[in-house]
Amino acid sequence: MNILLAGGAGYIGSHTAVELLSAGHSVVIVDDYSNSSPEAINRIEEITGKKVTAYTADVKDKAAMRKVFGENKLDCVIHFAGLKAVGESVQQPVRYYRNNIDTTLTLLECMQEADVKCIVFSSSATVYGEENKIPYVETMKRGSCSNPYGWTKVMMEEILEDATVADKDLSVVLLRYFNPIGAHDSGMLGEDPQGIPNNLMPYIAQVAVGRRDKLTVFGGDYPTPDGTCRRDYIHVMDLANGHLKAVEYAAQHKGTEVFNLGTGTPYSVLEIIKAFENASGVNIKYEIGPRRAGDLPEFWANANKAANVLGWKTVRTLEDMCKDTWKWQSMNPQGYIK
Ligand code: UFG
Repeated sequence: MNILLAGGAGYIGSHTAVELLSAGHSVVIVDDYSNSSPEAINRIEEITGKKVTAYTADVKDKAAMRKVFGENKLDCVIHFAGLKAVGESVQQPVRYYRNNIDTTLTLLECMQEADVKCIVFSSSATVYGEENKIPYVETMKRGSCSNPYGWTKVMMEEILEDATVADKDLSVVLLRYFNPIGAHDSGMLGEDPQGIPNNLMPYIAQVAVGRRDKLTVFGGDYPTPDGTCRRDYIHVMDLANGHLKAVEYAAQHKGTEVFNLGTGTPYSVLEIIKAFENASGVNIKYEIGPRRAGDLPEFWANANKAANVLGWKTVRTLEDMCKDTWKWQSMNPQGYIK
């Protein structure tokens, strides 16, 4: 298949590109590099020995996207393009709604014009909101979110689902990611956040490489076994393989289908620090600080549906996630050279 990766130079998109190319698919990447680097495209080509068709464009830009759809015969779209910083979304809600909703609408309009009938969407466990019981199962209703970023994911899921109600030939797969960490095992691709990392693993990796002094653990008094929050961390290459399975499934089906992509096993913040120290041999300086607003004590996936329907299972361990993160960060201490 020829697959458009909207936002494909970013963390999850770039790893997915490697997985798709390695499986024999072709990829077209559109990215404006607002939170990614063109160097990721070179690395994808180096790892796979295959060519990527790449466009520098904003996925909201209808004229630019029309050109991409006009110049390429596409079989499917994977929509990774979006703003994703929870805290920033509270400060800049209009920018988040404008950007995330518009990218989705532009893609759907271009797909309609070009008669492309298949889209896989980067959703998030955040859509389960605050009401649902853990572990999260796909049959649960979407909940209420504590921030605009989460609401954009809920709204984009709704929009895509509505589109399949109106167009019976359309196929939508919503992938609800849990907590992706890790890197490609070559050390050539990885997560390269701009500024101070919002997420746990890139923060730990930057402490390890000496870019940050110490980690603050957000809260030590949660009702969890060691008092710190628990999450379902998943290796980004396992997640990338989930996209390969999802795109092959979506091409054969119609309507909307939802899949959790997680391991089903939660780890606490302190367990992650310990696992990273063991895998890297580096001591991580940390202190316990106050809770971060909006954090839930713990959540993890029921990952049975992806296993049963897609035949997808995670194969990489927490040790692999830490080892590969450290390889990436130590080989690229400042991330991609801009
Ligand atoms: N944490 C720290 N210190 C840090 C960063 C994080 O202690 O410097 C803790 C958080 O409090 C949380 C855990 O590490 O307990 C994981 O935090 P992340 O920010 O890495 O991930 P979240 O679970 O908060 O966020 C993820 C995704 C979001 C998504 C959210 C809810 O990154 O996209 O899950 O589904 F919205």
